[in-house]
Amino acid sequence: MKEMKVLAIYGSPRREGNTAQMLDAALSEFPAGAEIKKAFIGELEFTGCCATRDCKTTGYCVVQDDLQQVMKDMVWADVIIFGSPSEFSDVSSQIKMLMERTWWMKGNLKNKIGGYVITGRRYIESTINTLHAFMLRHRMILGGSGALGYTFTEMGGLENDPLAIRDAHSTGKRLVELYQLIYGK
Ligand SMILES: Cc1cc2nc3c(=O)[nH]c(=O)nc-3n(C[C@H](O)[C@H](O)[C@H](O)COP(=O)(O)O)c2cc1C
Repeated sequence: MKEMKVLAIYGSPRREGNTAQMLDAALSEFPAGAEIKKAFIGELEFTGCCATRDCKTTGYCVVQDDLQQVMKDMVWADVIIFGSPSEFSDVSSQIKMLMERTWWMKGNLKNKIGGYVITGRRYIESTINTLHAFMLRHRMILGGSGALGYTFTEMGGLENDPLAIRDAHSTGKRLVELYQLIYGK
């Protein structure tokens, strides 16, 4: 079997927050031989798309900032897992800016396996929709139904939702299962 390349994108500025814990639970399902890269984008300096459309001619994003490495890692990975808190009913601004910046990538993410974990308590539907739309527009293979952690930091974290970590593990398992279906065990 070829070596499994996994990129986990941590979309909350809180490195050890609810989203990160769920993402870590999903990652724990990957085999020991998998190469796992972690992008803590909440700690990086970057902007959204500059909308000059220069990438149409260069074939690559022209905005030089910390997202360059993350975007390279997205192209490198076979499996991409997003972790996002719901913020104002959608993905975090960091995840959204990253999404915008992948406009040049059309075709580069095709057939990569994608999954997600999200946290939040209410109005999370758009968060799910945004992640689905992103992966489907890039012709990725949407793996599993994602995992939701029912959290709101001030009112308690994952300890209030016994299903959250379980579902995060299931998400990781499903992504591995899909990988093996496509690439063999
Ligand atoms: C700016 C901001 C906006 C938020 N908006 C929502 C929201 O619309 N719906 C919701 O359920 N939670 C919302 N939350 C709560 C977070 O989604 C929740 O606390 C989450 O677990 C935080 O994840 P973290 O621990 O990984 O940072 C918001 C939090 C912040 C900071």
